[in-house]
Amino acid sequence: MSAAGWRVNPAPTLGGSIVVPGDKSISHRVMLLGAVAEAPLEVQGFLQSEDCLATRHAVESLGARVEELADGGLRVLPPEQLRAPSVPLDFGNSGTGIRLMTGLLAGHGLAAVLDGDESLRRRPMERVAAPLRSMGARIETTAGRPPLRISGQARLEAIDYALPVASAQVKSALLLAGLSAEGRTVVRQPAVCRDHTERLLESLGCPVERGEWGAAVTGPTRPSGGQVVVPGDFSSAAFFIVAGLLAGGEAPIELQGVGMNPTRTGLLDILRMMGGRIEISSPREESGEPVADLRIWRADLVGADVPPELVPLAIDELPALFVAAAYARGETRVRGAEELRVKESDRIAVMARGLEAVGVEVSEQADGLLIRGGGMRGGVVDSGGDHRVAMSFAIGAARASGPIEILDVANVATSFPGFEQAAATLGLSVEPLHAEHRA
Ligand code: S3P
Repeated sequence: MSAAGWRVNPAPTLGGSIVVPGDKSISHRVMLLGAVAEAPLEVQGFLQSEDCLATRHAVESLGARVEELADGGLRVLPPEQLRAPSVPLDFGNSGTGIRLMTGLLAGHGLAAVLDGDESLRRRPMERVAAPLRSMGARIETTAGRPPLRISGQARLEAIDYALPVASAQVKSALLLAGLSAEGRTVVRQPAVCRDHTERLLESLGCPVERGEWGAAVTGPTRPSGGQVVVPGDFSSAAFFIVAGLLAGGEAPIELQGVGMNPTRTGLLDILRMMGGRIEISSPREESGEPVADLRIWRADLVGADVPPELVPLAIDELPALFVAAAYARGETRVRGAEELRVKESDRIAVMARGLEAVGVEVSEQADGLLIRGGGMRGGVVDSGGDHRVAMSFAIGAARASGPIEILDVANVATSFPGFEQAAATLGLSVEPLHAEHRA
């Protein structure tokens, strides 16, 4: 039985070393590109989380085969041609899975239904469906949300599209559609956002023009097969980066194999502005992605006014940042983060309520939060079913003045199966709280 919640006790001195699990964004992309590659694609470090497994099952429903290798890797065997799935494709909690797959399928002339859980059914899909329609795809949304219905139209025309929001999911969906479109598909971004699709396409032999302006692919083209190594997920590392700053002991916390793509590491810049000490060592490259090991020391943080241009570079780490801010001296302000309202939960509202529940002074704004540092006390926080909210409060509990109970944590398995064990290795005890045992 999975825990209904967690009880996390304060743990004043964390320390030790962990290997960070595989990157969720890159794992989705490897599965999707493997399914349309010219030859088998072998992958090491694929994240075996619920979200990425949903994408794996989806590509299997489209005719790809996925083999488990003796060394722990996977081999994706693409079919000659994708086939129409006989059942709706279920993406569970995963916005990345459903949006990228919509782009990939748009030009394949297949009929498919793409759906997900209650949270995913609340998330906006016209942001991908509308530009794909302008390429010639036939896609219906359900009042703008999943389920999505793609029907058999195949021929796509390339477009030149300016993203209204800096969304890597939308950019990627259009680039994936561009693989099967005739001509040069150009996606312009209003601010730099993650570029894993571009890097992976390049490492699989598909030329991509790219820069701060966005990216372009010229189709039709197909990725080659080959071998890919997925680096550790910076977004998973983020929880323990903050944990180390809040509650590290004499020795630093060490995180090994962390993906350091500069479109993902905005949190490091913000935490350094706040006085955090984070050392980067052994920089290396794996499959076109920068990777390094991190060492983090306890620090007395000070509040910061977060520059809005860092927001897309730290979008998934903002819940963890809000927790760091709760322990910083003075105020921390995050603006320009309205996208947080359409993530797995409304992360602005859910984080604000959670922070209040543990005694933090917080003011909710339309596009962010204003947090007055002062520390957390014990209490009960509802994660709203959001994995990143749950993990953020778990690490916040390390330095709280009493235990924090976190409700509705099952979705942690969507991105970080084994979070509790990783926390335990570093000295933070995250105990299951079954519904019937709650006081
Ligand atoms: C992702 C992009 C981000 C991020 C999400 C994963 C991706 O979303 O929040 O968790 O893999 O491309 P947006 O691009 O929609 O902001």
